Amino acid sequence: RTDFFQPPVLKADAESIDPADGKKVLHYTVTEEAASAQILPKAGLLTPILGYNGIFPGPTIDVYQGTKVELTVVNNLPLRHALGGHSLDTSTHLHGSASLPQYDGYASDITRPGFQKTYKYPNFQGARTLWYHDHGVHHTALNAYSGLAGQYHMHDANSERLLPRGKYDVALTVSDAMFAANGSLGYDDNSQSGLWGDVVLVNGRPWPVMKVQKRVYRFRFLNCAISRSFRPTLSTGDPLIMVATDGGLMPSAQPVREYRHASAERYEFLIDFSKYRTGQRIELRNLSNKNNVDYDFTDKIMAFDVVDEPVDTTDPTWNRIPSTLASSEVMDLQESKSSKTRRFRVKRDNGMWTIDGVTWEQVIASNYSKVAAEVPLGATEIWEFENSSGGWFHPMHIHLVDFKILSRNGRAPFAYEKGPKDTVYVGEGETVRLLMKFGPHEGKYMVHCHNLVHEDHDMMVQYRVGAAKD
Ligand code: C2O
Ligand code: CU
Repeated sequence: RTDFFQPPVLKADAESIDPADGKKVLHYTVTEEAASAQILPKAGLLTPILGYNGIFPGPTIDVYQGTKVELTVVNNLPLRHALGGHSLDTSTHLHGSASLPQYDGYASDITRPGFQKTYKYPNFQGARTLWYHDHGVHHTALNAYSGLAGQYHMHDANSERLLPRGKYDVALTVSDAMFAANGSLGYDDNSQSGLWGDVVLVNGRPWPVMKVQKRVYRFRFLNCAISRSFRPTLSTGDPLIMVATDGGLMPSAQPVREYRHASAERYEFLIDFSKYRTGQRIELRNLSNKNNVDYDFTDKIMAFDVVDEPVDTTDPTWNRIPSTLASSEVMDLQESKSSKTRRFRVKRDNGMWTIDGVTWEQVIASNYSKVAAEVPLGATEIWEFENSSGGWFHPMHIHLVDFKILSRNGRAPFAYEKGPKDTVYVGEGETVRLLMKFGPHEGKYMVHCHNLVHEDHDMMVQYRVGAAKD
């Protein structure tokens, strides 16, 4: 067990006003670098990583709704990846942001080592946990695994009023890894099925222990493992109080004893430590989850030690467990507004992972003209993902939009999924039905499996919104 670590919050370099609409713009810079990190507990046993500002996870970007961001990503990486040998061209995606296509981290929109790119983020969306990560074509898995991932928090009036803030608002970036005796990361994707590490990392530390006061905490759990899904549960048997999903606050809080959590999904939950005694250790465990590979200690994620520190009871969130949270456009959407239903079958075809038989290779071969769907700007549609081949789950992610899960195999979605989503767990033998409205931007956006090994081997397609030509 290691000490709990919270990544630093990134400071803005400058502030300006967008002359187009008078809105404030914050300017940030992160530099992608090769570095050494003290991940393993043995002092001096260092792990070579690639990190934003040389750390994993990267610094947290913390903004308020309505403030725009310009993020300059400087690629200061070596020319080639030490493990993979591929060139370290990168493309940065802010997952959860409705960005214009040219700032969305398109897989082919690469920045070479020695160059930089400034991404513009509109931040008009409501409070949510987003994350930024590399999206370089064919090497996303190894690049993200090496450390190119960080959280990005958006706050708004509702989230500030209802949920704990500051040091009680805690980022948990959870992943798995394997290590060689010399401390370096192990990687093996020969099977092209996924990477299953035997060490669970929370914010880049194995199985940490966090000291907590006797009050309510908000946790932003991001699964940034490249393949593994988790099934978190508390050792006390008490429920986690789910308050937000990928796209922000749920209409109402949902207590859950355990839940499935795939790569790229974000779930925010509250834990009320006020009912535990000083010195008590509460574990966040990982129940066995179908189609993952378990090792001796992958059944644990982290632990909390309750300490006897005075609690500030003038902070109204110290003991607040809200039941009603916030409505959102997507959760208010009605199925009757849908103008079209599309079904995408996800499966393995001739050794490649495909979406309706299509691979990103084919998109490249078509010079990026091949699209899986042409959607009119502003249209509401139902998209279905069907995973009828055995042995796999696929977290399917649609760029640009938030969606509402209507059903899974004809039944209501799980309680914890009743919030705005952008990535959906499509387990073995499952068909999910999703409802979404396309906009506000026109252009081409990616759709892919967020098991990044699947994505790289070529489970990604694109769709187009509106008539924009490129
Ligand atoms: Cu998390 Cu296409 O990305
Ligand atoms: Cu997949």
